[in-house]
Amino acid sequence: MRVFSGVQPTGNIHLGNYIGALKQFVDLQDKMEALYCIVDLHSITVPQIPEELYRHTLDVAALYIAVGLDPKKASIFIQSSVKEHAELSWILTCQAYTGELNRMTQFKDKSHGKESAPVGLFSYPVLMAADILLYKADWVPVGNDQKQHIELTRDLAVRFNNKYGETFVVPQYKGMEVGARIMSLDDPSAKMSKSNPNDFSRISLLDAPGKVKKSIMRATTDSETVIRFDPVEKPGISNLLTIYSAFSGKTIPELEHQYEGCGYGALKKDLVEVVNDTLQPIQERFQEIRPSEELIKILKQGRDQAQAIAQQTMREVKERLGFVQL
Ligand code: TYM
Repeated sequence: MRVFSGVQPTGNIHLGNYIGALKQFVDLQDKMEALYCIVDLHSITVPQIPEELYRHTLDVAALYIAVGLDPKKASIFIQSSVKEHAELSWILTCQAYTGELNRMTQFKDKSHGKESAPVGLFSYPVLMAADILLYKADWVPVGNDQKQHIELTRDLAVRFNNKYGETFVVPQYKGMEVGARIMSLDDPSAKMSKSNPNDFSRISLLDAPGKVKKSIMRATTDSETVIRFDPVEKPGISNLLTIYSAFSGKTIPELEHQYEGCGYGALKKDLVEVVNDTLQPIQERFQEIRPSEELIKILKQGRDQAQAIAQQTMREVKERLGFVQL
C-alpha cells in the first residue's frame, strides 16, 4: 500500500491543514510506503511573489518534519523537482473534458465573476490527478474540500485504464469522521482558509501563544450555554470541540461529558492550553530544522526516491500510448 498527498506552499499552514491533512500524514507513514510533497506547481495557478514562494516552500518542508514526518519512513519532496508531474499532467489533460473541469467547485469559486481565468487554474485538478497517479497511490489523505478532485482523479484513472490497459491504481478517498473540514473561528459557516483576510479566523502552526489565545477566546459561538456537538445548530462550539478532540486525543462524547455544566469560557481557556502545548514542540523543531542543511538533504533524498517511481510509471504510460522511447 502506498500513500501520497501534498500541501501548497502558500502562507502559514493552519489548524485545518494540520487536522485535515498533516496529522494523518504522520499516522499513515507507519502503516504504508509514504510520499508527501510540497505542490509548488499548483501554487502558481494564482499570482505568487517569487521570494515568498521560495520561503514558503522551505517553510512547509520544515513543518512536515516538525509535525513528525520522518524522512526515514516518508519521502518528502518538492513537486517541481520531479518533472514527471508536469509531463503526466499534459497526458491526462488530453483525457479530461472541459465539461467535468467546469463542474469543479474550487474552480468555480476562484474564477467567480471573472470573464476569463488562467488555464492553469482550470486544469489544476488534472495536475493533482497526475501527482497521485504517478505514484500509483492507494491512499490520499486530504480534507473534504479536495474530495471532488479525488473523484476526478479516480475517473481519469479508470478512463485511461479502459482505453490503454491497466496502468493506474484507482485511489481511495477516505473521509474522516471529524476534522475533514475545520471551520473559520470568526465565521463557523466558512472553512478555515489561508486566504481569509482576518488573521484571527485561523490559527497557524507558527502562531505565538498570545495570538492563539486571542483567536480562540474571540471565536464565534452561539447564545446558548450548553457544550454540545451539533454542527448545524452550534457550528462554532462544534468546531472548537473538533479541534479539541484532534489535539487532545479525547473523543467528542468524552469532551461533552467533561464539560457538562461548564460555560464556553472554560472550554475555550482549556483549548488554548491544549493547542499551545501541542504547538510549542512543533515550533521548536521548526526553528531547528528550517535553517539547516539537513532540510535540503532530506528534500534531495525525497526527490530521488520519488523520481525513481515516477520514471517507472512514465515509461509504462508512454509505452501504452505508443510513444517512441529512445
Ligand atoms: P491545500 O494546500 O489547500 O491544503 C492542504 C490540505 O489541507 C486540507 N485543508 C483542510 N482540512 C480540513 N479543514 C480545513 N479548513 C482545511 N483547509 C485545507 C486540504 O484538504 C488539503 O488536504 N489541491 C491540494 C494540494 C494537492 C494535493 C495533491 C493533495 C495538490 N496535489 C495530490 C493530495 C494529493 C490543496 O490545495 O491543498
